[in-house]
Amino acid sequence: MRACRCRRLKGVCALMMCVTLALHMLVIILVMSMFTSTCEPVQRHRARPHNLTSANLTHTGSTSSRAGAADLARLEALFSHTLYTLHGPSSPDDDTLLRVRSQVNEEHNAEQWLSNSKEGYDPILWNSSTETHPPWLRFHLGISRWQLYSHRDTNLPALQEQLSTHRIVSAVQKTGGTQLKLVITFSNYGQALFKPMKQQRNDETNVNLYYFSDFERHNAEIAAFHLDRILGFRRMPPVVGRLIDVIKEVKDITTDHKLARTFFNSPVGNSCFYGQCSYYCSTEHAVCGRPRALEGSLAAMLPDLSIAPRRSWRNPWRRSYSRSKLTLWEKTPTYCDAVKKTPPYDRGTRLVDLIDMTILDFLQSNMDRHHYETFEMFGNNTFLLHLDNGRAFGRHSKDEPSILTPLVQCCRIRRSTLLRLRLLASPQYRLSDVMRASLAQDPLAAVAPLLTEPHLSALDRRLGTVLQIVQRCLLQHQHHHVIYDDIPDYSG
Ligand SMILES: *[C@@H]1O[C@H](CO)[C@@H](O)[C@H](O)[C@H]1NC(C)=O
Ligand SMILES: *[C@@H]1O[C@H](CO)[C@@H](O)[C@H](O)[C@H]1NC(C)=O
Ligand SMILES: *[C@@H]1O[C@H](CO)[C@@H](O)[C@H](O)[C@H]1NC(C)=O
Ligand SMILES: *[C@@H]1O[C@H](CO)[C@@H](O)[C@H](O)[C@H]1NC(C)=O
Repeated sequence: MRACRCRRLKGVCALMMCVTLALHMLVIILVMSMFTSTCEPVQRHRARPHNLTSANLTHTGSTSSRAGAADLARLEALFSHTLYTLHGPSSPDDDTLLRVRSQVNEEHNAEQWLSNSKEGYDPILWNSSTETHPPWLRFHLGISRWQLYSHRDTNLPALQEQLSTHRIVSAVQKTGGTQLKLVITFSNYGQALFKPMKQQRNDETNVNLYYFSDFERHNAEIAAFHLDRILGFRRMPPVVGRLIDVIKEVKDITTDHKLARTFFNSPVGNSCFYGQCSYYCSTEHAVCGRPRALEGSLAAMLPDLSIAPRRSWRNPWRRSYSRSKLTLWEKTPTYCDAVKKTPPYDRGTRLVDLIDMTILDFLQSNMDRHHYETFEMFGNNTFLLHLDNGRAFGRHSKDEPSILTPLVQCCRIRRSTLLRLRLLASPQYRLSDVMRASLAQDPLAAVAPLLTEPHLSALDRRLGTVLQIVQRCLLQHQHHHVIYDDIPDYSG
């Protein structure tokens, strides 16, 4: 009897996934879109705390005054600087990830799919014109060879709004990871990856915990997205914070019976669950609402792997993931000479892309970058996705110099990156100030600032270290050996 029900549930689950996937593919194949990137003046996304009446949260209200108008003005000025508005590597219209076919009989197929739209979901009212597309679809269709979204992308506020407020119709566990994550589906068929809050903002990671057994932090995912954007990379899918009602928005609607079985009430009456995974999925490590409202990060999902396959690359500077072993790069100062001769690092921008990622990881103190991914369709000549930053921002009182090893050993950096770093080190655009302003726009900033002040100061300190290393490289090597000039026309 029970076995029978399990099988049926699995069947329903698989069917739902198939329908979602097929629909997703159909939409992308059918929709014929003319991608004219509009250059409208930016519309700042006003953070709106999610209205959740069951929550009992103390609104500090200090974020807005703390971030202050001055910081916001700095952020605005930064994003108007030529180094951000410059056109990077040209991205012609046909250089987008998803190309759409027009010769299919649209009407016929659309009808067919409309009849299949599911209970709880919005009817599909979008057609070939971009204005009718939901934000997640516009995000997917805007991904190009060199970035996930463009600077001043007018769809970004809409996408953030969708992630932070749109109605949730499904939540299931993401399989494969080591820690608990949920795949959330919205009523407009958009999806997001949810990571629950596990650690208070002012907790520092236990010094005796190895990097490979650290918790994933929801605020690190959010802060990483803001940092990546402020550095001018735009290689991270948008992430926002949200309060989730663990009963209404997870337990009551999940089709994942393994997840549903792990819900319980804590001694003080909070609703908790722990899911199934290899790390920290037990009653002792449950995530709990207060009493039902749970903080978490929601990251926009990338197009499904069946539509846009990705290639995973082993980071040449991967750590040993062992308590005792040292890796080759830790023992060989000339390690980079070998990497520079190895495809794909021997040509194009791959090496400086890796250095960009290195700098991002040092600033946020993320030691967990064992692999990185690229979109297969773009071959080797494309940007690196900066996914999975949950283990960043664990400690503010300590820097981890070994993360910078690729920069130290290779002494190579993109000119545009270096110039932006110098900008962020100046008092006018200080990194900590623009980060504070940027993070204050997240809905969860209303609960508590997403990064504490010590974490923000650590960013400035670490930025100083990066610039010192580049300066040392410039003293030791010829200028053109250190600087990869990707913006030869810019004379700043
Ligand atoms: C929040 O939602 C409740 C009902 O769901 C409503 O009565 C209340 O006015 C809302 N508050 C705000 C600030 O929107
Ligand atoms: C909300 O929190 C406050 C302070 O922590 C507490 O006094 C109050 O009883 C709580 N209210 C509910 C409904 O849990
Ligand atoms: C798409 O739908 C909108 C209304 O939903 C309509 O105004 C528009 O003309 C349609 N465009 C095309 C190309 O069918
Ligand atoms: C991309 O790099 C890999 C080596 O890592 C190489 O095998 C492959 O041929 C390269 N592809 C192209 C198109 O150059």
